[in-house]
Amino acid sequence: MSRLDGKTALITGAARGIGLAFAKAYVAEGARVAIADIDHRRARDAAAEIGAAAIAVEMDVTQQSSIDAAIAHTVARLGQIDILINNAALFTAAPIVDITREDHARVFDVNVTGTLFTLQAVARHMIDRGIKGKIINMASQAGRRGEPLVATYCASKAAVISLTQSAGLNLIAHGINVNAIAPGVVDGEHWDGVDAFFAKFENKALGQKKKEVGDAVPFGRMAQAEDLTGMAVFLASRDADYIVAQTYNVDGGTWMS
Ligand SMILES: NC(=O)c1ccc[n+]([C@@H]2O[C@H](COP(=O)([O-])OP(=O)(O)OC[C@H]3O[C@@H](n4cnc5c(N)ncnc54)[C@H](O)[C@@H]3O)[C@@H](O)[C@H]2O)c1
Repeated sequence: MSRLDGKTALITGAARGIGLAFAKAYVAEGARVAIADIDHRRARDAAAEIGAAAIAVEMDVTQQSSIDAAIAHTVARLGQIDILINNAALFTAAPIVDITREDHARVFDVNVTGTLFTLQAVARHMIDRGIKGKIINMASQAGRRGEPLVATYCASKAAVISLTQSAGLNLIAHGINVNAIAPGVVDGEHWDGVDAFFAKFENKALGQKKKEVGDAVPFGRMAQAEDLTGMAVFLASRDADYIVAQTYNVDGGTWMS
């Protein structure tokens, strides 16, 4: 018996990177998954690659109508939603004096407001159906402390940790567990973008920042997305029934809390 047999999961931002690795790991544990992403073409390709246990769902977490439509579509295709992973997010970086109101709002809209209102809509569905579900939010080591060039993203991930605490305490009354994962540095397209930001602002060669952060991890290297899947499966499983409002560091030893 696999750990997620018969379960259904909606994973936002799952067309690539960590979300896609989560989708594959959930299917390997017996779940069916909705790969929900604003990039519908890649979501379709990802679902096709996984096979019959995956569907692609077009979803923009900044639009309430899109959140509602994505949930309705997932329920119509998969029956219900037992597990939600709030994984979609944007990264940005700039010195404090250069942050613009527009860029700050754009990132908070996805990382914080999108997380809250997707969580709310799925929680309503779970409560209506009496589903003792699992909700997992993607935080970051960036939410544990500030960084000189990353104020907006760090603050957005600190907000995700805080929302996880409040929602976790509120929803456990309905038997819904809300917890979060805080990765460190994870190789992939996301970090290629981060590397390019640092190349610009710290005058580094492309790839240099990535090498530096990998070397600084106590484990000895950056994470691969697959290094995070064990925690994502565990938090979605019955083994995590008594775990409420927590954020787990899965970062090779970078942060201790
Ligand atoms: N990669 C890292 O080093 C790292 C470290 C810590 C935390 N995280 C967090 O893990 C999660 C996944 O990271 P990743 O590296 O796979 O990121 P990624 O950038 O590779 O993937 C993010 C996905 O979200 C989608 N997306 C963006 N805006 C959206 C929207 N409005 N609605 C729906 N989907 C949207 C994108 O199309 C993309 O497929 C994020 O929450 C990220 O902040 C990543």
